[in-house]
Amino acid sequence: MKLTTTSKDVTSLPKEITHVVFTQTSSSRFVEQKNGTLLFEFGIGKEAYTLRTLRIMVRKLMEEIKRYGWKSISLPGVKECALGVNIDEDQLGETYAYNLFLAQYTFSKYKSKNTEHRLAEVLFRTTTSKDFSEGLRRGGIIAEATNIARDIANTPGGDMTPRVLANDAQKVLKGTNVKVTVLGKKEIEKLKMGAILGVAKGSTEEPRFIVMEYKGGKKNEAPIVFVGKGITFDTGGLSMKPADAMLDMHLDMTGGATVIGAMRAIAKLGIKRNVIGLIPSAENMVSGGSYRPGDVLTTMSGKTVDVLNTDAEGRLVLADALTYAERYNPKLVIDVATLTGAALVALGQHASAVMTKDDKLAETLSRFGEESGDYVWRLPLWNEYIKYTKGVHGDLANIQSSGNARYGGAINGGAFLSHFAGKYLWAHIDMAPRMTPAPGDYLAKGCTGEPTALLVKIAEKY
Ligand code: BES
Ligand code: ZN
Ligand code: ZN
Repeated sequence: MKLTTTSKDVTSLPKEITHVVFTQTSSSRFVEQKNGTLLFEFGIGKEAYTLRTLRIMVRKLMEEIKRYGWKSISLPGVKECALGVNIDEDQLGETYAYNLFLAQYTFSKYKSKNTEHRLAEVLFRTTTSKDFSEGLRRGGIIAEATNIARDIANTPGGDMTPRVLANDAQKVLKGTNVKVTVLGKKEIEKLKMGAILGVAKGSTEEPRFIVMEYKGGKKNEAPIVFVGKGITFDTGGLSMKPADAMLDMHLDMTGGATVIGAMRAIAKLGIKRNVIGLIPSAENMVSGGSYRPGDVLTTMSGKTVDVLNTDAEGRLVLADALTYAERYNPKLVIDVATLTGAALVALGQHASAVMTKDDKLAETLSRFGEESGDYVWRLPLWNEYIKYTKGVHGDLANIQSSGNARYGGAINGGAFLSHFAGKYLWAHIDMAPRMTPAPGDYLAKGCTGEPTALLVKIAEKY
C-alpha cells in the first residue's frame, strides 16, 4: 500500500479512484457528482473525536475499503482528516498510516488460496505538508514492524519453535544495523541459566537465547534493554492447562515477537540510541523429561526458585534474561510478556498491565501508551505484595506461596520478577490482556502486535 499526498482535489483526480469524504452522519453512502465522479460519504457520526477514537475510525474505514474491494482511494486533506483532534501533522500522518496498515493485515500464510484484498494506493488530497508525509513514512515503518511481529506470533506452535524464532529474528533484522547473536543450549548451560533450562527440559526442542544489539547512540551511552518472553508454546507443563486455555498458547512468544519487530523499526527509523533486545525462548511441554512441581531451580543470579506450578514458566525464563541484562549496565530495562491470565481478570482486554517501583517511569509509560495507542495501566509493586514471593525450600517460589494465591496474580508475577531486576530502572509489562484483539478494535483475529509501537516510542522518546 502506497500512501502519498497530492495538491490536487477531487475534481482534478482520475474518476477511477474512489474519493472518500467524511460526513457527520452515522451511516455511509455513495453520491454521484455532476461530472460523473463517485464520492463515498463515510459516516463518522457526530462524536467529538480524540486520538483514541480517530484510530478506530481509520480502522473502520479500512473495513469499508475491504468490503468494496477498492484498489485506490483518495482521502481529504490534513485539516479534515484531523477531525478536530489537536495533534501535530506528523502525528496525524503517523496515525493514519499506522492504523491503515494495521487494519489491512490478515494472517493468510496458511490459506491454500489467497483471497486477501490489497489496497494499492491512498492519496491525501490538497495536502502539501512535509510533516504529514514524514508521519506517513514513520507510521508505515512502525506498522510494518508490528505486522511482522504478528506474522511471527501467529505462526502455529508446531512451526514456531525456539530455533525458528531465532532464525526469524535473524531474517527480520538482516540488512539493518542490528547485530543478532543466538545462544544455544550449551551456551545457556555455560551461563548457568537454570530457569530457562528447567522450563525447556520437557521439550525435544532446545532453548535459545536471542540477543539483538543496536548501537545508534554514542559509544558509551547506557542502552535501553527490551526483554521479550519467548515461550513458543505453553502447555502449562505437568501443571497442565485445560484444552480451551491452551488453544492460543502458540502466542506465548508475543512479547519476544514484538521486541524483534521493535528492533527492526528502531533500526529503520535510525533512532539515535543504543538499544538491546533479549529473548529467552523455550517450549513448555509435557514429557518424561519435564521439570516437575516441587523442583528447585538455580537461576543465573544464584537465587533458587521452588517450582510450585510449571505453568508459571514465563517469569522463570524472564528471570535469567533480567540477570543477563545487567552486563549492559542499562539505564532502563523493560520486559514484555504474556505473563498471567490474572492481568486479563484485572484489566479486561483494553490495556496491558505495567508494574514498576518508579512513579515517574510509570507516568511516562502511561503517556507513551496514550501516544502510541498501546495503552497500559499500572498495578502496584509494594513490599506488601513482594512478601508473597518467598520460597519454601528455595529462596523464592514461582507462584504465590502464602496468602490467597487466587488474588493479585498479575502483581505476583511482577513481584517475582522484581527480585531479578538488577541495578537498573525497570518496568514489567504484562501484555496478556492485549495478546489478541478486544471487541471494537477492528483488528484481525490472532496477535494484535502490541506493544511494538510502545517499545519504539520508548526507544525514541525516553
Ligand atoms: N502464558 C500464560 C499466561 C496467559 C494466559 C497469557 C492467558 C495469555 C492468556 C502463563 O504462562 C501462565 O500460564 N500463567 C499462569 C500463572 C499461574 C500458574 C500463577 C496463569 O495465568 O494461570
Ligand atoms: Zn504458563
Ligand atoms: Zn506462558
